[in-house]
Amino acid sequence: MIKERGSGKVILFGEHFVVYGVPGIAAGIDRGVEVSVKESSEDKIVGEWNTEGTRKAVDAIKKKMGIEGHIEIGVKEEIPTKAGLGASAAFSVGLTKAVAKLFNKKIEEEEVFSTSLEAEKIYHGNPSGIDNAAATYGGLIKFIKGKGIERLDIGKELNIVVSFTGKKGSTKELVEGVKKVKERNEGVFEKLLSSYVELYKEGENALKQGNIEKIGELMNINHGLLSAIGVSTKENEEVAHIAREEGALGSKITGAGGGGCNIALVRDESEAGELAHKLERRGFRSFPARIGG
Ligand code: PMV
Repeated sequence: MIKERGSGKVILFGEHFVVYGVPGIAAGIDRGVEVSVKESSEDKIVGEWNTEGTRKAVDAIKKKMGIEGHIEIGVKEEIPTKAGLGASAAFSVGLTKAVAKLFNKKIEEEEVFSTSLEAEKIYHGNPSGIDNAAATYGGLIKFIKGKGIERLDIGKELNIVVSFTGKKGSTKELVEGVKKVKERNEGVFEKLLSSYVELYKEGENALKQGNIEKIGELMNINHGLLSAIGVSTKENEEVAHIAREEGALGSKITGAGGGGCNIALVRDESEAGELAHKLERRGFRSFPARIGG
């Protein structure tokens, strides 16, 4: 039995604004999806991941890698699925690496990325690739839609808490909703977008300087901009407010919003553990995670 994993991802800055061509920052987290494989007489996926989508994704990966043998696949997820944390990309990356090892194929990271992206296309149609980049490389990733990714080395780990609000809004519908807000308020939207761009620049500098107070404050402002364009729900606001009241340096939606997940930045691992407990007690499934390492 071979076991390999892919990382989940959060978006630190820029969801929705990136749709309009400005840069964002995503980060791989130290939790993801672990995939185990062994040779078998037929292809088999054990448990809840045995869906039509996953079966097609597995076929796409095998085809891209030129594998004809059959495999039995087990999946253990350390992050909620369908919550904007990139679980499908983490699965595809874990599976690509595990299959390569099982069939003794040497595979570079670049190829793990491109192979797993074939599976992500089955799950998500026309993915930006950011989830697969985070799942493959980890660390911090600067991305501009349609222009690819750049790794951002900050030489330091940041401690965050990821909280699931309980339900995930449809990314497609939320993106369309923002488009309508933009169309009805062109001038205002333009100013919000340029505010975001300034925030992004200061955020990138703060990350490079390791100025976590500043990063936290900018996360709060980024959350405010996301509320302004209509993607924050009562739950997203509640989680953000609880996190800040409990001492987080910053808290925001991560991903498309409409529920889904929030992240909060804290000073260290013990604060992350404590905050995750407090948010759990308030009814929000939460876990500490590290980014940037
Ligand atoms: O659905 P998620 O959590 O992976 O977030 C998507 C990010 C958006 O900016 C909202 C959409 C996009 O395609 O960039």
